Amino acid sequence: MKIYKTADYKEMSRKAANILAAQVILKPDCVLGLATGSTPIGTYDELVAGYEKGDLDFSEVKTVNLDEYRGLPRDNDQSYYYFMHEHLFDRVNIVAENTHVPDGTQEDAQQECDRYEALIDSMGGVDIQLLGLGHNGHIGFNEPDASFAQRTHCVDLTESTIEANKRFFASADDVPRQAYTMGIGTIMKAKKILLIVSGEDKADIVAKAFFGPVTPEVPASILQLHNDVVIVADSAALSKSPIQE
Ligand code: GLP
Repeated sequence: MKIYKTADYKEMSRKAANILAAQVILKPDCVLGLATGSTPIGTYDELVAGYEKGDLDFSEVKTVNLDEYRGLPRDNDQSYYYFMHEHLFDRVNIVAENTHVPDGTQEDAQQECDRYEALIDSMGGVDIQLLGLGHNGHIGFNEPDASFAQRTHCVDLTESTIEANKRFFASADDVPRQAYTMGIGTIMKAKKILLIVSGEDKADIVAKAFFGPVTPEVPASILQLHNDVVIVADSAALSKSPIQE
């Protein structure tokens, strides 16, 4: 596990975007695993800037997103489908058919999750998976105590996640109670993993996840066992971790 410490959110975003850009340049038809949440917004802005400068070409790139709320139509501005189009897909020359997000409107959860897992496998797996980090250590929507072996599945969101995500909705009651998410087992199959994290409010969970024991109580801790993980964190997020200056 490599940890890069950056001065602030801006530098974290630039470094993360450079790592993703390197992947796109080295393998123009790569499969990018993408994430939502507030953390990756700056990274996507930097990728768009790279595209606008003419440094990046997404015409052959394929993407798979980590997760989606169950029951939200794609045109709802809080769906992750909508988020990805707004922050990245509609701003670069990616082919819409090459982008994939679990379909939260599919009522048969098992069928949709099996389809999504098979889709990832049929694409040859994920070359690099971008991840954020939830305050309780969740990655994707794999909440504490999720099995490390799980593939794409339907989850019940915890109260703390509903609480954290309610800022994007009119009220906590509007936050969907379930989501479809790649499982920890799916995430661990990615060839490379890039986790980004920013801010003092994540400092406790960063210390637990990457400097504490590997335990299902802290889902992100499993990343310690992946053989190619890069963490890009700003100094505030690392302020409670035993890391060299
Ligand atoms: C959400 C997403 C995660 C994300 C996390 C942190 O619930 N499902 O993929 O990493 O919460 O979000 P943020 O970056 O806004 O702190």
